[in-house]
Amino acid sequence: MSVIAIDGTFASGKGTLARKLAAHYGFACLDTGKIYRAVAAKALNSHTSLEDAKACAQLAATLTLSDLDNPELKSGTIGAAASKIAVHAEVRKALLAFQKDFAKNPGKNVKGKNFKGAILDGRDIGTVICPDADVKLYIDAAPDVRAQRRHSELTGYGEDIIYEDVLAQLIERDHRDMNRTEAPLKPAANAHLLDTTNLAIDAAFEMAISIIDAVLRST
Ligand code: DC
Repeated sequence: MSVIAIDGTFASGKGTLARKLAAHYGFACLDTGKIYRAVAAKALNSHTSLEDAKACAQLAATLTLSDLDNPELKSGTIGAAASKIAVHAEVRKALLAFQKDFAKNPGKNVKGKNFKGAILDGRDIGTVICPDADVKLYIDAAPDVRAQRRHSELTGYGEDIIYEDVLAQLIERDHRDMNRTEAPLKPAANAHLLDTTNLAIDAAFEMAISIIDAVLRST
């Protein structure tokens, strides 16, 4: 059973890459951002303050896999709220077992699937959730390129938002994710860095495969 840890900045392409790699290798895939988004959605829907660490952690403790299927989780509002509740140590602690369990036993909740490994993508996978992952990737791209990608995605969902606001929110999100005390976003010491600024998704996918194949061959 192999584990691939993918971390990176907002809209760097890590989610798309993780899904494509999971299909390629026959691995199960967990987008851990969705976990934080699902907790944020629960907080927003129940009018729980995003600052209230204890109450948000209680909501996190009730999380199930089916909470991740909610299409509303993709929205910019929920993403920003997710980044806010993700600063709380109590919330992160409540979500730890869920993620570690997925990495260890990815087929547990999916009947009839025999996965050969797991891919988790997020902000602290290589550093905290799966420090012993077989391969670690850190994906990044220039802020303006990421903001363009995210702007097209949001307008594709029908959100009415201008590029400048997307860029400002992205810079704020990067700052919060990278500077929080608990599990800040940073590359793990042994992560392979992949800059997708000038790479379309297919080229990034090919590069990731060559890194992963080389590492898995050598272990
Ligand atoms: O990847 P995303 O945009 O869906 O993530 C939403 C927020 O959730 C992100 O800004 C920070 C938080 N997050 C985190 O702290 N740790 C993770 N492993 C994944 C996401």
